[in-house]
Amino acid sequence: MARDLGGVLILLVPVLLFVWRTGAGGLDVDQFLSRSILEFSSSSAATPQRTWKANGSRNSLPMVGDEDGMEEILRLARRPEAVEWVKGVRRRIHEHPELAYEEVETGRLIMAELEGMSLGYRFPLATTGIVASIGTGEPPFVALRADMDALPIQEAVEWKFKSKVPGKMHACGHDAHVAMLVGAAKILKAREHLLKGTVKLLFQPAEEAGIGAKRMIEDGALKGVEAIFALHVSHELPTSVIGSKAGPLLAGCGFFKAEIRGSEGPAGNMHYSVDPILAASAAVVSLQNIVSREANPLDSQVVSVSTVNGGSNLDSVPESVTLGGTFRAFSNTSFYKLRQRIKEVIITQASVYRCTASVHFFENEGFYPPMVNNEIMYEHVKKVAISLLGPKNYRVVSPLMGAEDFSFYSEIIPAAFYYIGVRNESLGSIHSAHSPYFMIDEDSLPVGAAVHAAIAERYLSEFGEIIVNSKKASARAIGSIKRKANEYLDG
Ligand SMILES: *[C@@H]1O[C@H](CO)[C@@H](O)[C@H](O)[C@H]1NC(C)=O
Ligand SMILES: *[C@@H]1O[C@H](CO)[C@@H](O)[C@H](O)[C@H]1NC(C)=O
Ligand SMILES: *[C@@H]1O[C@H](CO)[C@@H](O)[C@H](O)[C@H]1NC(C)=O
Ligand SMILES: [Zn+2]
Ligand SMILES: [Zn+2]
Repeated sequence: MARDLGGVLILLVPVLLFVWRTGAGGLDVDQFLSRSILEFSSSSAATPQRTWKANGSRNSLPMVGDEDGMEEILRLARRPEAVEWVKGVRRRIHEHPELAYEEVETGRLIMAELEGMSLGYRFPLATTGIVASIGTGEPPFVALRADMDALPIQEAVEWKFKSKVPGKMHACGHDAHVAMLVGAAKILKAREHLLKGTVKLLFQPAEEAGIGAKRMIEDGALKGVEAIFALHVSHELPTSVIGSKAGPLLAGCGFFKAEIRGSEGPAGNMHYSVDPILAASAAVVSLQNIVSREANPLDSQVVSVSTVNGGSNLDSVPESVTLGGTFRAFSNTSFYKLRQRIKEVIITQASVYRCTASVHFFENEGFYPPMVNNEIMYEHVKKVAISLLGPKNYRVVSPLMGAEDFSFYSEIIPAAFYYIGVRNESLGSIHSAHSPYFMIDEDSLPVGAAVHAAIAERYLSEFGEIIVNSKKASARAIGSIKRKANEYLDG
């Protein structure tokens, strides 16, 4: 470890000197340095040395032969009363689903549970969001996130805890995500004296619509946070199996809607009108060519036109046609390139047919950057999952064209997103998210809680010290540079 830290400092001292000398404003050196440590150590130190000792001075651990606490965390999660309780939390939320930014009862339930554990929290952020804290109250801070919103879907599963709200359903498992994070809070609270920093629990509204993650960030949810982790239930992995991958995991996802305007006229005498239907048809065909002719075939992308509306009279062309759809890509560059080309193609094709067009991208409602897992944070998730559940319960998964607003966090700080399996053929939990038949194997709930807790606790013990030390070192380095510069100027 000392070698890597030395390497970073050697690299950074000239940079810091330069920054100080040129007086570059606004650069947060601490953040810059700690970020660089993470980036720098990716090649050589993906698994930083553990700083815990089984019989460590301050934090001696309760179990002999369990020096990283994994067995104890699983034991806490799997106590029969803890399992019943975490299932109960999920069922209460499942019965009362609430849509984006309406998660009032869900929030109340969460806050009541947090108060029951004597945990402090901030409320509201992003209208209905909550951020709870566990640990020393001091840096380093690591965050775990759960989303709270349901979907406008009528539940078709007949079971005891079926949604009691007509037309609304937790069909994406966000009820399970909340229960797992509340479950993690209980485990972490029991181990609070062992935490080498602070765990922030983010209960976020509006993942399905309304980009709640962005609002949480705007309301300060990531203040001081070094890294963030989140999970999502998956019907593709067997119960309690963890899956993820390094790098791009979920696509960037945007939507577009265009209006192509011509002029209305008799369909028997087209020279009196300007036909927006033909212009729209040309635009639809040209949009298909963006991916097939302009994108690298090894860089998966999608442009789909999913609605076309215009006209109702068989004997006249309408004044305008609207068309719209979605686009996906796995890199920020490709994603923004698609956005630009969709706009150009529609406007230019419209003009070929003497029409005008405008294109709207819903940037404040449903515009998600690609979800890219930080390599080091991904390795951390993998290592913790394997040491908690064994190598048989970990899978490397393929990227998916779906999207997640967790990507807003991952744009800002090192982040990793992973799946936890809920598939169980004998229970029938085999339907994909957003299906009215969606259901989960609830035996995954305590395991999800344990994985969350273990990831955060071990993050603080493994990375926390590196970050705190690097900050002290950077403060020392800056102090020494300033002293030398002053000596020079004085002399
Ligand atoms: C750990 O600590 C306990 C109690 O303080 C002590 O009895 C034991 O000998 C220690 N074990 C080791 C390996 O140092
Ligand atoms: C993605 O690209 C856009 C447009 O070029 C830019 O504004 C944004 O900062 C980029 N985001 C990241 C994470 O690079
Ligand atoms: C599926 O659920 C049943 C009932 O809870 C359980 O006995 C079985 O072990 C589960 N199967 C898997 C693969 O988890
Ligand atoms: Zn969803
Ligand atoms: Zn979801």
